[in-house]
Amino acid sequence: MAQAIAHPNLALIKYWGKTDSHYNLPATPSLSLTLNQLVTTTSVELKSDLTYDQIFLNGKLVKDPKIEKFMNQVRFQANQTAYAVIKTKNNFPTAAGYASSASGFAALSVACNQEFQLGLSPQELACLARNGSGSATRSVAGGLVAWQPGNRKNSFGYQILPASEVPLAVLSFKNNRKPKNISSSKAMEAVRLTSPYYEAWVKTATDDFQQALSLIKNKKWQALLALAENNALKMHATMLSAQPAIIYWEPQTLKLIKQIQQIRHDQKLPVYATIDAGANVKLLTLKTQLPLVKEAFHDQSYVLCLPGKGAEIID
Ligand code: PMV
Repeated sequence: MAQAIAHPNLALIKYWGKTDSHYNLPATPSLSLTLNQLVTTTSVELKSDLTYDQIFLNGKLVKDPKIEKFMNQVRFQANQTAYAVIKTKNNFPTAAGYASSASGFAALSVACNQEFQLGLSPQELACLARNGSGSATRSVAGGLVAWQPGNRKNSFGYQILPASEVPLAVLSFKNNRKPKNISSSKAMEAVRLTSPYYEAWVKTATDDFQQALSLIKNKKWQALLALAENNALKMHATMLSAQPAIIYWEPQTLKLIKQIQQIRHDQKLPVYATIDAGANVKLLTLKTQLPLVKEAFHDQSYVLCLPGKGAEIID
């Protein structure tokens, strides 16, 4: 039996659009921060007497076509026919607004690498995770992680700065409990096919990524967060312009974005908003400003996350 842990990641420059949906190859480069605090723990145990993979999510036996497809790829790669018992649990409620697929497939990849004796390099491991869910490739490494378009062998998440050197913090507001009504994969595809802004998104996302790398190199952290807010809003603009429109936001989403912008303006605090394919708002800030930021948002309920490490085997 092999057991691994992984953390979700939050994209500062978003992955939005694929060139290949079987292998989750991205149309744009992206950049994310792996988060501590929230953890997925996954164990994999090969069993010769099973006729299908048994998947337990938070203790409940479930059917999960994405995990089944992933396990078939693992078996193919390992030249194995045996099925496995997979147990995965998250320490974070869905109300925290994080998709568990990134941390889930990162932890599952690391556990499978050991249990199936795949002997994968870190890059190969990150490619495997990407097959499960695109953003999972960025949860294999810790700290700030980049992911660039390419082919199924050379498009993977890689660390550009370890967690200990990233002075950023994230407040993840619990402003929505409703499950989203359209998956990110479906939404990306709809945008690609119907939004007149998709082409502009792809072009400017590449510019944003290059600019982000240069801001990180020059330690211009606040400018990086401003760029991240703009990038997230641009991504949502592509959804609003799809036909039919995809609107993940709820009234509370807009209220929080406005509150963040107001506090930034009035109190001169470095607080910026980002939103993924859902209604939850995450606030980006600098670690050094946390006491003031916490005071400014004392009326909100949130999970505080700091930069986290990559996926790893645990005993
Ligand atoms: O990995 P997926 O298919 O869940 O897509 C994630 C897409 C966003 O969260 C909206 C952006 C990102 O880069 O994480």
